[in-house]
Amino acid sequence: MYRTHTCGELRLSDAGKTVTLAGWVQRTRDLGGMTFVDLRDRYGITQLAFNPGSEAQQALVAQARTLGREYVVQTVGVVKERESKNKNMPTGEVEIVVQELSILNAAKLPPFSIEEETDGGDELRMKYRYLDLRRANVRSNFELRHRMAMEVRNYLSAQHFLEVETPVLIKSTPEGARDFVVPSRMNQGEFYALPQSPQTFKQLLMVAGFDRYFQIVKCFRDEDLRQDRQPEFTQIDCEMAFVEQEDILRIFEGMTKHLFKSIHGVEFDGAYPRMTFDEAMKSYGCDKPDLRFGMKFNELNDLVQGQGFKVFEEAELVVGINAEGCANWSRKQTDALIDFVKRPQIGATGIVFVKWTDEGLKSTVDKFFTPEQLAKWAERFGMKQGDLLCIMAGKAGKTRKQLNELRLHIGEQLGLRDPKVFKPLWVIDFPLLEQDEETGRWHAMHHPFTAPKPEDAHKLMSGTELGSVRANAYDLVINGTEIGGGSIRIHDRTMQEAMFRVLGFTDEDARYKFGFLMDAFEYGAPPHGGAAFGFDRLVSLFGHRTDIREFIAFPKNNAGRDTMIDAPSRLDPDQLKELGVASMV
Ligand code: AMO
Repeated sequence: MYRTHTCGELRLSDAGKTVTLAGWVQRTRDLGGMTFVDLRDRYGITQLAFNPGSEAQQALVAQARTLGREYVVQTVGVVKERESKNKNMPTGEVEIVVQELSILNAAKLPPFSIEEETDGGDELRMKYRYLDLRRANVRSNFELRHRMAMEVRNYLSAQHFLEVETPVLIKSTPEGARDFVVPSRMNQGEFYALPQSPQTFKQLLMVAGFDRYFQIVKCFRDEDLRQDRQPEFTQIDCEMAFVEQEDILRIFEGMTKHLFKSIHGVEFDGAYPRMTFDEAMKSYGCDKPDLRFGMKFNELNDLVQGQGFKVFEEAELVVGINAEGCANWSRKQTDALIDFVKRPQIGATGIVFVKWTDEGLKSTVDKFFTPEQLAKWAERFGMKQGDLLCIMAGKAGKTRKQLNELRLHIGEQLGLRDPKVFKPLWVIDFPLLEQDEETGRWHAMHHPFTAPKPEDAHKLMSGTELGSVRANAYDLVINGTEIGGGSIRIHDRTMQEAMFRVLGFTDEDARYKFGFLMDAFEYGAPPHGGAAFGFDRLVSLFGHRTDIREFIAFPKNNAGRDTMIDAPSRLDPDQLKELGVASMV
């Protein structure tokens, strides 16, 4: 037997017991005569004590002094009450007086320290991820992930959802990203795609009469990476038959409430708030507003135009936010805001400021506007003395996006985006389609399987007024992050064909790519709908962090590489030949 106990479980009540422990050497300390070793495993740290009393023990002390960091050792000893207790450690009242010590495996000096605070940078930590994962605070992210997966399964299972696995080698399912593809050796010249989501399969399970399906499943998308995007990520993927949007929102609001309660003991009063897509865009400039703080947009066109201030005169939209309590921001601070919005990623030309100090309202455009006019602006925002208005102007869509960035930036600066506060929101009534400004082509806003609202279906079928077709599509947004999304689906062949036509597919192309689904719709497809939740995002939200990589055991870096195993990598010419793939130079 390698061990009788773990390194996290011995207490004062165990004093006197002879125990065997195994683990990693966290550190060794020589204090005059005594030598102490902190022994670590997944469950905690226990102090080993070496006391040079007898001759036999002197040999043990000498052996202990040879132990390096991360050596794997096994030890037999007696549990004893400590003289100087450490109240910060669960095992801090005891130590093991060592009688036997064996080195199970020596270790090279790790490239960074394996403690709560490490000196390892991101790249180093990822290259040696197996060492990084030894750190208790990193490991606890995976304990959280595990508990959340268990709770999701418990909740959904109790609601009669069946967990069904769907294939990974499939045909492309468009979810808005590029596919990762896999060449087929047995069918040369043909490729599988890795699923961007199991969308079509879960719909087929509804046709099969499974009624309620879920899966905690890997999805693959070849897209540009960010803090909350990985090329392979995990969804809690769900589908239900014979449901309306309301049923779906209720079930999954229930799922997240169950998680908040079981993991964080947080309960929400009543239903999550809801906001239409149009309202979200108008009031926050984005479809995933962070509701941990206010600073709602107010439009000013009617108050500011006709006064000769060129920027406002030429603008399609003049819109602002009120930064409460920021009137005393220095010139340097407001200039920094201007620099922020002028960055190429945001691309704005500037900000007009109005501050309300004890000298009254003062703006950067005083030349054009009277104090009475400024007072009207202030009234629109419910502005008080001490506040600062930030106003931007330009093309409507672009300006809203830019002001959204500014709002989030100021919110961050004011400490209003507390990761311990949770503000969920359903964004509903998304448009079915969006048009590419340059090409004029229509794209599915969610995916091509989303149904129009019944009252708008005729527009889709006739291909008219496409921009005004709404969908029963919804996103769950928490703290400004899109945690999940879904829709009621098309379950009728004729409508699905019309959708593909609007998206620019020829009938032949649509049949080649999605004939299997449209065929299935002719064999008794029930009305159905569903949703999928980004599990990595959900766990990182619960872990009060924004970088999902911290909650993925072996993540990819921003260039899509796994630096630990050094993937992707080249294939041998022989392997390529066997696959029928032309060798690359
Ligand atoms: P959607 O594309 O909105 O919907 O994806 C669902 C959720 O998955 C998460 N997510 C990601 N997480 C990490 N890295 C990524 N690259 C990534 N991409 C998406 C987000 C998102 O809300 N089949 C539909 C769902 C449905 O209609 O039922 C779908 O995949 O949190």
